[in-house]
Amino acid sequence: MKRIAVLTSGGDAPGMNAAIRAVVRTGLSRGWEVFGVQHGYAGLMSGNIRSMGLRDVGGIIQQGGTVLGSARAPEFKTLEGRTKALRELRQREIEGLVVIGGNGSQTGANAIFEMDFPVVGVASTIDNDLYGSEITIGVDTALNIALEAIDRLKITASSHQRAFLIEVMGRDCGYLALMSGIAGGAESIVIPEVPTEPEAIAEELHAAYERGKAHAIIVVAEGAKYNAEALIKYFKEHQATLGFEIRASILGHIQRGGMPGAFDRLLATRFGAAAVACLERGEHGVLVGLNKNEITTTPLSVVVSSKKNLNLDLLQLAKELAQ
Ligand code: F6P
Repeated sequence: MKRIAVLTSGGDAPGMNAAIRAVVRTGLSRGWEVFGVQHGYAGLMSGNIRSMGLRDVGGIIQQGGTVLGSARAPEFKTLEGRTKALRELRQREIEGLVVIGGNGSQTGANAIFEMDFPVVGVASTIDNDLYGSEITIGVDTALNIALEAIDRLKITASSHQRAFLIEVMGRDCGYLALMSGIAGGAESIVIPEVPTEPEAIAEELHAAYERGKAHAIIVVAEGAKYNAEALIKYFKEHQATLGFEIRASILGHIQRGGMPGAFDRLLATRFGAAAVACLERGEHGVLVGLNKNEITTTPLSVVVSSKKNLNLDLLQLAKELAQ
């Protein structure tokens, strides 16, 4: 019988629970023993590991967050931390580990794979900035949450002929801002990949005002050169040049806390099952992802040393559509 463990690490993402459930149930159905690690790499280093049964993952597919808990664990970046973690796994005769998470988590996974431990990664982050998967667990739900907020803010913006700056998450990546901006019909989208000065945004807003628009929505990524806080400061000082009165709203962690939608539940379920299949056939040190609508694997060494590009043609399209 094989003994495997699963953990979730980094920022939680809606759908992580569906992935845990798939790992546990497809592992158990092979006659294996499956362990859950609490609080990511922190729990791995401290031996916070428990055996999981079928009922432990009952009723969680629809829940946001992660029943295993997550953490950011700086100590795991050290050789000492990783050695401690491997000791805990080997003491329990665990022969394989599934790591559900984004960039930092998969960097950790690659590090322990390089220390000769069988690991498989599962692509999960709302930021969609992970190389090796066109879409990651949590993105779709986070986008829909951002979109609901944009739609609501647009209503009040129209009533008052106001402009609204809406800041979305994404760390250094503009994916969430770009996609929610297009889907939400934003007048302006500000992303880290294209440094934009406040003067240029002010001009766009003024032009929209002159065209008779009832509102203006500016979606700004948290990682942009000028985030919502910096932009609102500038715009308050230059109110007269805009036409619109302006307000700002920072969505922050609200985007991470949602109940996963159908897309994320299905994606996560397929990823979790595929990770167990990888461990079964001895395909280790890879990330399970989705590319061209197929489940794929990419070596973790490639994942952690490559950058995922954003399709900037879509920014141009967004400008045309904002007329
Ligand atoms: O990586 C997911 C993410 O939500 C980013 O979008 C954001 O920058 C970061 O995590 C926030 O981290 P924390 O939850 O540690 O504040």
